[in-house]
Amino acid sequence: MAEAERARLFFALWPDPTVRAALEGLGREAPGGSRGRRIAAPNLHLTLVFLGWSDAELQACAERVAGTAAGETGVGPFTLELDRVGHFRRTQVLWVGASRTPPPLAELVGALNRGLEGCGVPPPGRAFRPHVTVARKVRRAQPVEIDPVPWRVERFSLVRSTLHPEGARYEVLAEWPLAAAEG
Ligand code: 2AM
Repeated sequence: MAEAERARLFFALWPDPTVRAALEGLGREAPGGSRGRRIAAPNLHLTLVFLGWSDAELQACAERVAGTAAGETGVGPFTLELDRVGHFRRTQVLWVGASRTPPPLAELVGALNRGLEGCGVPPPGRAFRPHVTVARKVRRAQPVEIDPVPWRVERFSLVRSTLHPEGARYEVLAEWPLAAAEG
């Protein structure tokens, strides 16, 4: 299939303006670490599942899986507490993340991964660690606790990444609301 018909896709949580502003501030301050190359505010997100290069058939299959994960697993809205800044040494990434993964988040990611296996996507090679990358090319950083940033999650998104000379650009292709409201 021609390159133009393929897209680099991933499922993600897309922050609302308040959470985005908090994440941007943390990237600017870089608590615990050197600055590296900051992620532009509009690009800040939390990846749920990375699909990589996908053709139209895989995209359609992934969208069906998302609909099922959103509607049939019964995963409702939840709050993710971003309470730490950490560092992945291998990828030189400075991130803002959560020390505790809320069960609905783990359930959502599990449902997506299981469904995607039916689309031919191999299961992820490593455990899910919810994080928002705030800077790249950070060689060293100390993990630090931060005042928790509560992130109310009510939907998730399918996102297309395109690479440009100035860096990656992301476009939300579709969104799915989480099924049930909390009682
Ligand atoms: P990262 O921020 O930890 O690098 C778009 O590239 C998003 O997909 C990023 O949030 C990135 O996570 C994530 N991702 C996960 N696996 C990836 C992979 N194998 N290649 C590129 N990005 C990946």
